[in-house]
Amino acid sequence: MQLSRRRFLAVTGTTAAGSATLGGSLLLNPAQAAEGAQQPGRVHLDYPITTVSKASNLKVNQPVAFTYPDPSSPCTLIKTGRKTQGGVGPDGDIVAYSILCTHMGCPVSYSTEERTFKCPCHYSVFDSELNGQMVSGQATENLPRIILSYRDSDGSIEAVGVEGLIYGRQANILPSA
Ligand code: FES
Repeated sequence: MQLSRRRFLAVTGTTAAGSATLGGSLLLNPAQAAEGAQQPGRVHLDYPITTVSKASNLKVNQPVAFTYPDPSSPCTLIKTGRKTQGGVGPDGDIVAYSILCTHMGCPVSYSTEERTFKCPCHYSVFDSELNGQMVSGQATENLPRIILSYRDSDGSIEAVGVEGLIYGRQANILPSA
């Protein structure tokens, strides 16, 4: 199976220049290495590890805003209250997504009633409990999922990677200035 450039950049998080080094050594932090080990064939490069919240501070169905992997990428974390695909934490129910709509980049907002993300621009709807899956509207791709990790020792929820390409980017990790 051939991997498209878009898909390749989405899962590696690297830049075009960075991708040229794939034949050399890969720098993975422990969380990224663990993620890669859990998902054979997927490698995440150069993502920061960012503490988003303590699991104990989260309330069911109350969104928490944060940015990842950098300040220009708004995201939302949700504790769904039930075991959720891709969920982490003691109950496996904590998930997070980029909130830039995959159609044209408008910020989507979370509906606590419907538990979906809704785009105000052209009305795309994304499922918060099914990997950000596009349910209806103009978008053709799911919301990028923020890969989370739960640290048992202190109950922290950390962002460690992104699955899917954040709107408007050629790579999820921006080249450093
Ligand atoms: S920008 Fe979200 S549907 Fe068009």
